[in-house]
Amino acid sequence: MTSDTATTRPPLEIASPARPKPPRTIPFGRPMLDADERYAVLEVLSRSTLTHGPEVEAFEASFARYTGAPHAVAVNSCTAAMHLAWLHLGLGPGDEVIVPALTHVATAHAVELCGAQCVFVDAEPATGNIDIDRIEAAITDRTRGISVVHFLGMPVDMLRVLAIARRHDLAVVEDCALALGATLDGQHVGLFGDAGCFSFYPVKHITTAEGGMLITNRPAVARDAATRRAFGIDRNVVAERPSPGDYDVTCLGHNYRMNEIAAAIGLKQMQRLDGFLAARRANALALEDGLRTIDELELPDSTGGRFCSARYCLAVVLRVPLAAARRNIMDSLKQRGVGVSVYYPRPVPHLRYYRQKYPMADNSFAVASGFCARSIALPVGPHLRSEDVGYIIASVKEAIASVK
Ligand SMILES: Cc1ncc(COP(=O)(O)O)c(C=O)c1O
Repeated sequence: MTSDTATTRPPLEIASPARPKPPRTIPFGRPMLDADERYAVLEVLSRSTLTHGPEVEAFEASFARYTGAPHAVAVNSCTAAMHLAWLHLGLGPGDEVIVPALTHVATAHAVELCGAQCVFVDAEPATGNIDIDRIEAAITDRTRGISVVHFLGMPVDMLRVLAIARRHDLAVVEDCALALGATLDGQHVGLFGDAGCFSFYPVKHITTAEGGMLITNRPAVARDAATRRAFGIDRNVVAERPSPGDYDVTCLGHNYRMNEIAAAIGLKQMQRLDGFLAARRANALALEDGLRTIDELELPDSTGGRFCSARYCLAVVLRVPLAAARRNIMDSLKQRGVGVSVYYPRPVPHLRYYRQKYPMADNSFAVASGFCARSIALPVGPHLRSEDVGYIIASVKEAIASVK
């Protein structure tokens, strides 16, 4: 007899209901990291400079070159970039900003973090972008700015937005979290307004795990963002200080810095960006082709002369009779191994924090609500293999047939 019962005890088995394994697994998004990124991280780890170093500077330079931006400032999220942009533009209590109802909560939080108030505007049905025709009606004498989001990578018609902003003397911040690679009239998004803000969260066009970038044409915006991302300290790099501790704090800042490890990954990702974008485009076009003939689906506009989408994903919208079955359709796709997502679960003004702050009717923001309730975002990223697109199309057809 042994006293060590652990060695004689049979392994614990947890019964799970038998579920057939899907023939393949296609995640909604997957960070595309390979030996180059791993090597770059090890390189940084072998040095002693983990912040305020050459990788961040090189990543900023590479991003500026790619987008055509005169200035790029790396930070640790898109939310941080937007917050810095609004802080520089002087947003504060008593001010209002026009914010699209159909977006990630970060777009609105960046305004609220400054103590200002969001005035939400509904989406247009064709693209999910802010309905420009409704912006002027939402402007009051307290409005200081317009926040636009290039929804799922599709550029907003910035020329129309800028015309309104000029008429009312308003600042414009572009949320480009899903729009790296998107252009309007050949110019990269993010350079139309006062600042453009990008995200490098893992499933974005490129990743640094967490990270963001602010681009701008305006040197003052870049200078101020660079100071405020590091506590408002005027001399951040120790080497720039005439003697140790020789620095001052010129404004109220945050710790929004990007670190060297993240920047090293970002730099490698930039070298692969063209390939990533080409794959997204090819996958999205092939998916659109295969899904266009399905009567139960509407496909938002994604192509068109002046507007070049960054193709973050392909959001299909279920026509009304099928909308109630969205959860079942998504479950069915999941069982087939197709990863899907929802952009976004609810219009921002319908989220509890905003609903309590700005009480409004449940049926407000009808277009944004329609996207939130009826759309399913399908993967188009560079992680898809060539057979995956056909498999996704067949899976969508089967999933719809299964709920009819
Ligand atoms: C439109 C939009 N803006 C901002 C963000 C927030 O980005 P980050 O996580 O880099 O702050 C997201 C996140 O997905 C987003 O979809």
